[in-house]
Amino acid sequence: AASDPDLVARARAAKEKLGDRVFILGHHYQRDEVIEFADVTGDSFKLARDAAARPEAEYIVFCGVHFMAESADILTSERQQVVLPDLAAGCSMADMATAEQVAECWDVLTDAGVADVTVPVSYMNSSADIKAFTGKHGGTICTSSNAKRALEWAFEQGQKVLFLPDQHLGRNTAVLEMGFSLEDCVLYNPHKPNGGLTAEQLRDAKMILWRGHCSVHGRFNLDSVNEVRERIPGVNVLVHPECRHEVVTAADQVGSTEYIIKALDAAEPGSKWAIGTELNLVRRLAKAHPDKEVVFLDRTVCFCSTMNRIDLPHLVWALESLAEGRVPNVITVDAETEKYAKAALDRMLALP
Ligand code: 13P
Ligand code: SF4
Repeated sequence: AASDPDLVARARAAKEKLGDRVFILGHHYQRDEVIEFADVTGDSFKLARDAAARPEAEYIVFCGVHFMAESADILTSERQQVVLPDLAAGCSMADMATAEQVAECWDVLTDAGVADVTVPVSYMNSSADIKAFTGKHGGTICTSSNAKRALEWAFEQGQKVLFLPDQHLGRNTAVLEMGFSLEDCVLYNPHKPNGGLTAEQLRDAKMILWRGHCSVHGRFNLDSVNEVRERIPGVNVLVHPECRHEVVTAADQVGSTEYIIKALDAAEPGSKWAIGTELNLVRRLAKAHPDKEVVFLDRTVCFCSTMNRIDLPHLVWALESLAEGRVPNVITVDAETEKYAKAALDRMLALP
């Protein structure tokens, strides 16, 4: 649907009034009406870096979810303020690993005698607390585009990896890109005593996967792939690594949002694509490539509801507040958490 012209005009006016003092970041999964006002678009990693590269902007308006705004706050300077237009824009995956649960898990690994040889690797999609835990224990952050490099680095530092919080990205990277077997991976369930694992299982495992997942990507299944292949003969199935292992295994290609965007740019006219990632991005890709057939992998899967909380009314409210001298919904990470989280993020930035 077309955006309300009054809101569009108000967003434009407030943005113009703020000029270089504001920098608007838009994640690839955001609504079109929001992306229209983004100064840059990207995945969470690129956006955090883009924010850090804009020291002249007093305000970073982050159109994305809470963990992304936290990462931007960690990587930007002290005087810059990061604004999240709707504080309810969280991430169900990030919420699946709390600081208390992860501390308890580390105690379980310690009791099993494996903590000393375990390196934590945490996906960007995690809270600042989890990033700080990772930094404190000598680990690194990764994104969906550098997970393999992060795991290679981690296995040079220790014998096992505790991968948080997305089991699918951890398993898919270890098994499909690094030659581990499914038996090398165990699933740590934070809702069970000792994670539901015996000390022997922990000692035998190479990858200890946290039992978290993305509520959007986790909904694609093997039927989604089989049905689209039947419906569109010759279709290329391209999915995000947050999808289940069986989906990624059945797909033709797997990659991060940035990878998916590049793959479609490079695709032949007339080629057919079924994409397994967030719907806002897939719809924009279909519009941007009218010479190709681009469909959503499974028509029963929906938008990311928390990404979608950032809409034009929230953006207008945030921009107008800033233009009037009020700074709403500031995301700040405390100094102690920031120190260790930054250590983990810096380790990622230094990966070869
Ligand atoms: P990327 O943009 O890093 O591929 O992440 C996907 C995602 O789920 C973000 O919430
Ligand atoms: Fe979180 Fe998944 Fe939404 Fe990304 S798409 S913000 S991982 S719930």
